[in-house]
Amino acid sequence: MNDKTDKNQNISRRDALKKMGALTATAAISMSGVEALASTVGSSGEAKKSLKVLLINGSARRKGNTFTLLSEIAGQLNKNSIDSEIVNIGSLPVHGCIACGRCHAEHLGKCVFDDDVCNKLLDKMAECDGIIVGSPVYYGQPAGQVLAVLQRMCYSGGAKLQGKPAAAVTVCRRGGATAAFQTLQMPFQMLNMPIVTSQYWNIGYGTAEGEASQDEEGLQTMRTLADNMAYMLKQFSTGSAKRPERERGKYTNFIR
Ligand SMILES: Cc1cc2nc3c(=O)[nH]c(=O)nc-3n(C[C@H](O)[C@H](O)[C@H](O)COP(=O)(O)O)c2cc1C
Repeated sequence: MNDKTDKNQNISRRDALKKMGALTATAAISMSGVEALASTVGSSGEAKKSLKVLLINGSARRKGNTFTLLSEIAGQLNKNSIDSEIVNIGSLPVHGCIACGRCHAEHLGKCVFDDDVCNKLLDKMAECDGIIVGSPVYYGQPAGQVLAVLQRMCYSGGAKLQGKPAAAVTVCRRGGATAAFQTLQMPFQMLNMPIVTSQYWNIGYGTAEGEASQDEEGLQTMRTLADNMAYMLKQFSTGSAKRPERERGKYTNFIR
């Protein structure tokens, strides 16, 4: 497929998605009721941005078990005076990275594919201080659409993610949650993103939608994760230490 055909296909696909109302389909739920960039006045009198965490629901089931776990996190963040927003990845098609390299070559800071949820999430990251990605377990792995979006977000817009505390959450019926959890965390470890932990791996159990609300230990693990995220964000925002300066990146391949 040449570039022209590819471009035309994207345009017609985007139009089709628009007709389906797809571009508004990434329902965002503000848990605090506070506008994303609401400002408060700090003790020193200067305007201070509220701390905010982006929660990505990687399940096509908008009110499924991933949503249940993320809602528990959002509620606990709220108790810690941290804003949050749950964004559903939805059930519409998402692109995988095609390694075209244009995001880097043209310094786009976003993915060349502009017709799915990826760039919207990157825009949101610019106003968020932390990120938690949740996914159902499919065959012992995160759902394909979450991986596709996460890989493109990290590759094209890594600068918006660098240094921000991050965590992964997975939910399953019976098995594979730890493998999926570890997979989701991998990109964070390549982007200098401090990983927030809990009292246990961040996993929950449930099959039918909402069933994870019966997993008391899972819910407690989510609340502890939220407390730890809040603690880390507050420490980072009030601490005196400067973020470390990075050396210019070395990029050596194994085969020369
Ligand atoms: C395609 C597919 C594969 C699944 N694979 C697993 C699996 O490997 N292990 C498991 O315990 N549950 C598996 N499940 C069950 C889901 O992980 C479980 O229902 C989960 O709660 C769904 O989360 P959600 O409600 O947020 O979509 C699978 C479900 C689907 C649809």
